[in-house]
Amino acid sequence: MTVKIAVSGKGGVGKTTVMALLAGELRRQGQAVLVIDADPSPHMAQALGMAGAEDVRPIAEMGRLLAERAGKTEGSPFYNLNPEVNDLLRDFMLEQDGIRLMILGAVRTAEGGCACPENHVLRKMLKKMLLTAKEVVLVDMEAGIEHLGRGTVAGADCLLIVVIPSKSGVRTALKIRQMAKDVGIPRIFFVGNLVQSEADRDFLCAELGEEPAACFPDSVLLRQTERDGRPVLAVREGLNDAPKMLLEKMLTAA
Ligand SMILES: Nc1ncnc2c1ncn2[C@@H]1O[C@H](COP(=O)(O)OP(=O)(O)OP(=O)(O)O)[C@@H](O)[C@H]1O
Ligand SMILES: [Mg+2]
Repeated sequence: MTVKIAVSGKGGVGKTTVMALLAGELRRQGQAVLVIDADPSPHMAQALGMAGAEDVRPIAEMGRLLAERAGKTEGSPFYNLNPEVNDLLRDFMLEQDGIRLMILGAVRTAEGGCACPENHVLRKMLKKMLLTAKEVVLVDMEAGIEHLGRGTVAGADCLLIVVIPSKSGVRTALKIRQMAKDVGIPRIFFVGNLVQSEADRDFLCAELGEEPAACFPDSVLLRQTERDGRPVLAVREGLNDAPKMLLEKMLTAA
């Protein structure tokens, strides 16, 4: 199975948390996982419990390196993340317990700085990356619709839209779904988060016009884990098996 899964949703709705929990579940099921943190303020290393994120080279820098190595050949074979080129990629990734993490770009300052190199590399990676069998790519993204507007994640074959049970949350989620359809992402799933009751679930179903692929409960344990600076990926209790259900739904729809 080779699947490229991206995530979108309003700010703070739980995108990074859901992706980290999904990474943990995929590992338990024996899948190799590559996580790409495409948020300009990256938190994924923390969520996965990986040290050394400060030292890893952002993959936005890879474009230049690839051009040098490949003699400017279009369709560079170095997008092929096979073992033969892993030495080249080592500087660009952290690895722990079968999960690899790449960080897209350096933190941008308030003064700006163009995100073009980052977005170019991400777009290319998603389109051209050839993966070994049994690898799942999870792309964590910044909040909002910019990525979809620019078509950066058009190469993903699955988009998770994290949505909390609120009117404005649903409105954004529906807008994201429309944009995702427009850029041609073939599979799109809503994922409820901070769903505390049947009423919350009913609200989401009614407003979205469909049942979310999975609903994550509001979890005291998750909250505490994050506050303690421990990796949320390890949390399993009290989630009503939502990560597992989400994965099952995605796979049956494949
Ligand atoms: N199901 C949950 N139960 C309890 N706390 C949660 C849950 N989901 C997320 N949180 C907490 O909510 C906060 C925001 O979550 P997270 O960072 O995953 O959101 P995000 O959508 O990735 O945010 P951003 O838009 O800033 O990237 C974190 O402190 C996280 O621990
Ligand atoms: Mg996040």
